[in-house]
Amino acid sequence: MRAITGLGPRPNRAVSTAIEWVKLSDQRKRGRLLTTIAVIGATGTAGSRVVARLRAREVAVVEISRAHGIDLLSGEGLYRAFKGVDVAIDVSNPAPRDGQPTVVEALVTAARNIMGVCAARDVQRLVVSTMAGIDDPAFGGAPYFEAKRAAKEILLDGPVPTTVVKSTPWYESATGPPGPVHGDGDQVIVEDWLIQPIAADTVADVLVETALGQTPTPRTITGPETIRLPELTSKVLARQGDSRTVRPVKPAVPALAAGALLATERAVVVGPDVETWLRSLPPAGADGHAQDGDGAHALSHRPDLSRM
Ligand SMILES: NC(=O)c1ccc[n+]([C@@H]2O[C@H](COP(=O)([O-])OP(=O)(O)OC[C@H]3O[C@@H](n4cnc5c(N)ncnc54)[C@H](OP(=O)(O)O)[C@@H]3O)[C@@H](O)[C@H]2O)c1
Repeated sequence: MRAITGLGPRPNRAVSTAIEWVKLSDQRKRGRLLTTIAVIGATGTAGSRVVARLRAREVAVVEISRAHGIDLLSGEGLYRAFKGVDVAIDVSNPAPRDGQPTVVEALVTAARNIMGVCAARDVQRLVVSTMAGIDDPAFGGAPYFEAKRAAKEILLDGPVPTTVVKSTPWYESATGPPGPVHGDGDQVIVEDWLIQPIAADTVADVLVETALGQTPTPRTITGPETIRLPELTSKVLARQGDSRTVRPVKPAVPALAAGALLATERAVVVGPDVETWLRSLPPAGADGHAQDGDGAHALSHRPDLSRM
């Protein structure tokens, strides 16, 4: 046998196995799992937070989005990107584009492509973020909600075990476009939804724990307080020194005014509450820097009100 030089004495098999075990155990203690996780929608409100959390735990991440050259509707780049992926977290939010006439068609296509690639690449499990309340009959005939339902059913019916995390509207999305908030000169027009908002950071925490903890149980999560959306928008504008007034309007889906997106009693309530979340936003004149709390954390909460 040819001698291997320069590497010193080779440990016997028992010693080498023990060394590997100690390394593995050490990695696990530090929260590092030998798992590769695909984040589908990696650049989004939730996705960017999920990616940051996984990276902080030294988990290998594959980022999926059009910005990364991967398209859930055409399927372009998807199979190649999923090489070696063990677990996937779906925080995507595809919209219809030319040639795909309805939101239902777009979301159904994306869901089929996601389940298809997960099955083809032997992904062990998929964790999906969706909205609480979408199964309420009040949303019958509302295309976006019907599309969300259809997508959820496709994922749950697929061959790869899928865990759904349902959450109420997020503070970040509820106060910025696109959504039920629109700018009109010196007014901000806001649909009068009754909501119990939750922070996108909290949702990201739960998605990551669900994926890493291998938790198969579906979860519904909500924030601690109910508030009417126009009031929340007013509070965000005041916090950021924006003098525009808020004009509440009737929601396109009337049931939203009565709280159709509120979670059921069985939902798990997770903070922060409204005032605590508001304090994490950069205050007026702070030029993107938070007054209190962790600066990076606060900045990441900043909703984009500039295009309203
Ligand atoms: N926002 C809320 O209040 C709320 C509440 C409950 C549940 N949810 C659910 O949570 C999920 C994530 O929401 P979000 O607000 O974080 O979404 P978001 O900010 O709009 O981000 C969507 C992500 O999907 C990617 N994407 C969109 N179209 C794509 C395509 N055709 N191919 C590949 N990637 C695509 C986007 O990246 P590119 O543009 O680069 O492709 C982006 O990374 C959604 O399913 C949403 O329904 C949201």
